[in-house]
Amino acid sequence: MLPRLPLALLAALLLPLAAAAAPEPATIAIDLSAPAGKVSPIHYGLMTEEINFSYDGGLYAELLRNRAFRDDPVKPVHWSVVAAAPAAASIALDPKQPLNAVIPVSLCLDATAASPAAPVGVANEGYWGIPVKPSTRYRASFRAKAAPGFTGPLTVAITSLDGATVYARGRVDRLGSDWAAYEVVLKTGRKVVPTTQARLTLTVEQPGTVWFGLVSLFPPTWKNRPNGLRPDLMQMLVDLKPGFLRFPGGNYLEGDTIDTRFKWWETIGPLDQRPGHPGPWGYRSSDGMGLMEFLLWAKDMGAEPLLGLYAGYSLKGDYVKPGPDLEPFIREALDEIEYVVGPVTSKWGALRARDGHPEPFPLRYVEIGNEDWFDKSGSYDARYAQFAAAINRAYPSLKCISSIGNEQPAAKRVHSVRPDVLDEHYYRNTETFLKDSPTHFDRYDRSGPEIFVGEWAAHETAFPPWDAKSRGLAPTPTMKAALGDAAWMSAMERHADFVTMQCYAPLFANVNGYQWRPNLIGYDALNSFGAPSYHAFRMYSTQVGDALLKPVQTGGAPLHAAATRATRDGFVFLKLVNTEADARDVEIRLAGARRIGSTARVETLSAAPDTTNSITDRTTVIPIVTKRKGVGAVFTHKLPAHSITVLRLEAK
Ligand code: AHR
Repeated sequence: MLPRLPLALLAALLLPLAAAAAPEPATIAIDLSAPAGKVSPIHYGLMTEEINFSYDGGLYAELLRNRAFRDDPVKPVHWSVVAAAPAAASIALDPKQPLNAVIPVSLCLDATAASPAAPVGVANEGYWGIPVKPSTRYRASFRAKAAPGFTGPLTVAITSLDGATVYARGRVDRLGSDWAAYEVVLKTGRKVVPTTQARLTLTVEQPGTVWFGLVSLFPPTWKNRPNGLRPDLMQMLVDLKPGFLRFPGGNYLEGDTIDTRFKWWETIGPLDQRPGHPGPWGYRSSDGMGLMEFLLWAKDMGAEPLLGLYAGYSLKGDYVKPGPDLEPFIREALDEIEYVVGPVTSKWGALRARDGHPEPFPLRYVEIGNEDWFDKSGSYDARYAQFAAAINRAYPSLKCISSIGNEQPAAKRVHSVRPDVLDEHYYRNTETFLKDSPTHFDRYDRSGPEIFVGEWAAHETAFPPWDAKSRGLAPTPTMKAALGDAAWMSAMERHADFVTMQCYAPLFANVNGYQWRPNLIGYDALNSFGAPSYHAFRMYSTQVGDALLKPVQTGGAPLHAAATRATRDGFVFLKLVNTEADARDVEIRLAGARRIGSTARVETLSAAPDTTNSITDRTTVIPIVTKRKGVGAVFTHKLPAHSITVLRLEAK
């Protein structure tokens, strides 16, 4: 039964509800005959770095963790002994039996009691499991040598964690006493039930000592490239149609210290010549995903590389003084550029050819450093100037990006040499994005420098991603964040003539081990999913024209509209974000067209703000595509509550 309330109080309680039920009507007017500028063809792109097990344990398809035994100096972490009584064995790192000068250690298996009925060996746990799939071929490879008296055989298998189930098995008949490379193909059966509860084992059936180096296991990769990428994640990226790929970071470029910066030349060539290095996110990188792999990755997506150059500042505060001290670092950067674009007759171009890619890669943008506003010494202005001068001299057509943009206070963005492009980073909560998006870029000087929003993401929390309170929250954000993201993307797209590039960050997170949230794509060893923000990004990045239009809103709360036109085929893409808790009618008025098609393709992402996707519920929030009728010069479209909508209209 309803409690008895005084009439005035009842009215006061009901009125706001009534107001919420009938939001103020809004009109969006667009003059199709008045383009407001050209959309940068590479406005939408991707940013990437080794964080959250993005490559090792992520996009890089290698399944074994600590394959070169360098993740820990003392213990063979992620490896264990396989030995059930009466068998007996021990394993240890052995620096006295290095694989080579670059990988100065091996894994020693000392089998003291072993038989065909009770084999012993080593097992690798992978990145939170080895993904087992039916009818799948896995390529296991390793280096090994045996102590005199032991010649094998050796069994390589993918098994359940307790060893009771063997999913796939192969065999090496004979091992020698010198280092040699071995390869075995393992094939799973048709009826195997997919699981991550598996490991790779290398076992022997008689006592002896065996050393292992660089043990690797690859499943099928994107386009079957050797040392390649995980197909499901690549497909998700290709689906975004990115115009560029910013790599290798981020903080990963800078390293904690100068010595642990991204030394690009140590990431190329044969895998046994890549030492790996400690990353700034708490784990070591194998560098199997090196400079060439980044370039091929960009190429495979149809994206151009945007190369981050280490510029003399590292995260713990070390910096290189501008002047002569900086020259070797500038040399490193110039050599790196030569590896990417130099002719095969150049020193580094020849190495690129050796690495399998004689044709130079396309390169138009290089970024000098990352977030150099953190450099308290104030040396960035001079470091930037020195780098830019050297790059301009050697490669006059390259555009240099400053890592300090307009979002920083004036005192931090001193540029005595005008950069071609400014990189701005925005990690903000949804509320801040919603408030700032309608006008943020209106105050910019459209004549330049170009703006690159090189990192941005909305979080749905009151605290920022780097706050300790973020730890323990889901790796990917909710629909609330996607609404903030969409509003911000609309703001950037409305200015996509001078906001020439933008990319969400971070891109990836392994749900079992991440240092940062929110992220666009989550995965474990077997499955992957997009956050609502991923779907919002795809809706925006794949539906954009080449001419900017100016949507003008009257009435109602901001709809964060953006509109572009594809001049060749006449499609008009109108993006609208309804952040309100109620569905809203919006009147759309299209002027300046000879003919407007009567139907439109409509893609809508709509869900309660706290809803999200996860590794177990991967498709809770996904867009739906419908075809609507009744489109004309003036028509009304209903936007669902909490929704992101892209209308594709036909107009001539
Ligand atoms: O995207 C995560 C980190 O945020 C990047 O490494 C860094 O550039 C920024 O501070």
